[in-house]
Amino acid sequence: MDAEEFRDWALKAANWGVDYRKTVSERPVRSPMQPSELIAALPGEPPEVGVPFEELFSDFERLIPHGLTHWQHPRFFAYFPSNAAPPSVIAEILTAAISAQCMIWQTSPAATELETVMLRWLVTAFGLPNEFDGVVHDTASTATLVAVLTMRERALQWRGNQEGLSGQQRCRIYASDLVHSSIDRAIWISGIGQENLVRIPTDGPHNSLNPQALRAAIETDMGAGFLPAGVILCVGGTSFGASDQINAACEVAQEYGLYVHVDAAWAGSAMICPEFRSLWQGIELVDSIVINPHKWLGIQFDCSTHFFRDASPILKTLAIHPDYLQTYDKAGVRDYCEYTIPLGRRFRALKMWFVLRYYGLEGLRTRIRNHVAWSQVLVEELRQSPLIEICTPPFLSLFTFRLLDQSLSEEGLNLLNLEFLRRINDEGLIYLSPTKIDGRQVIRFQIGQFDCSEADVKLAKDCILRLAAECVGH
Ligand SMILES: Cc1ncc(COP(=O)(O)O)c(C=O)c1O
Repeated sequence: MDAEEFRDWALKAANWGVDYRKTVSERPVRSPMQPSELIAALPGEPPEVGVPFEELFSDFERLIPHGLTHWQHPRFFAYFPSNAAPPSVIAEILTAAISAQCMIWQTSPAATELETVMLRWLVTAFGLPNEFDGVVHDTASTATLVAVLTMRERALQWRGNQEGLSGQQRCRIYASDLVHSSIDRAIWISGIGQENLVRIPTDGPHNSLNPQALRAAIETDMGAGFLPAGVILCVGGTSFGASDQINAACEVAQEYGLYVHVDAAWAGSAMICPEFRSLWQGIELVDSIVINPHKWLGIQFDCSTHFFRDASPILKTLAIHPDYLQTYDKAGVRDYCEYTIPLGRRFRALKMWFVLRYYGLEGLRTRIRNHVAWSQVLVEELRQSPLIEICTPPFLSLFTFRLLDQSLSEEGLNLLNLEFLRRINDEGLIYLSPTKIDGRQVIRFQIGQFDCSEADVKLAKDCILRLAAECVGH
């Protein structure tokens, strides 16, 4: 592709993107595509001879958007948001054009140094202690894996990486059963093993891990010859927003010298609003925290920030210095690949810079505050309907509900709610996702999409109440 053809199509692609975002609210939120539909529409073999770009672009328009679920749709209320505010999209266009691989300082000094500054800005924005340092990963799953590997190596006094795990004391890690599945995955991948992820019961208004039960589990494990290594806490759990009391859990963890990691992948963004920081009181005591700005801060996926009080245990766990990656004559520069699992790194700091400067913290706070306030109003409105049960009240902007029908058993209600959810999502005006609470099938609702307005939330309420009545035959 020569420069002029590149220019022509790059401009067309940018225009397509702008038009897509302008009209995305007219599309069904969840893709209506059926399984294998696209596979059947595409040839099984790659072409031997290239085709004109025009043909490619028209196939893209014909085949792809129909098969997309529109995460930037203002009525995307499922899962958690994955926002991509326009300034971050523009940054990604530039990043893709530049396509620097930013593994060490020297392979793009501006990328490294912008990342350092963005992480400092976010430490301030989230109200974290100034001494906290950080790194940008792709996802929270990676950050949690880094934290779990660090817990393991620190507890084994850095023998695991050298000697392997067989013959070592068995490490134990403690968490409630309301943490995200990425914690289980990290436990598997790190070689610690699911049996050594000790589940601590929860209680209280936010379903927090019980500190006495944590202490008892650690004591029992030590008595049985296990090696307690760390505690994983959550603030804003995925299912319905369960949150641990960090102060109380850290008090116990510190007594036993355990490393504490907090998963605040979604809720962490809300901490730019000082009034929500009571939800993570004691955060200054933890060793490591993950927050995904790609969820609720508007910074295009992927962008996951990992903060830690002391970088040295992470570096002792992960840093490796092959001859072919040395930087000479530049003492004191930072090579972020030493803090991460992949060597190669994307230039993610540019989109952080664009979003934080374009909106300013006040612009971002306004969105988050609106989302929280609108979800509280919506819950009060839904409560008025005898057909709806609010199963968990809003934690920030996330709540759960279900459809009621007095004539049905719990099992019948579970099936009814799956049918209710199917009808809601098939209609396409809004998109919601399921979860279970104590065996009950419920529906999650979170507000977090950047273009969502109060009118979209009202439309969601009307849609839920209309389909609720239809489902129970009223
Ligand atoms: C609380 C929480 N932690 C971790 C994750 C995993 O995030 P990622 O996709 O960035 O690995 C999620 C995903 O939604 C989440 O809700």
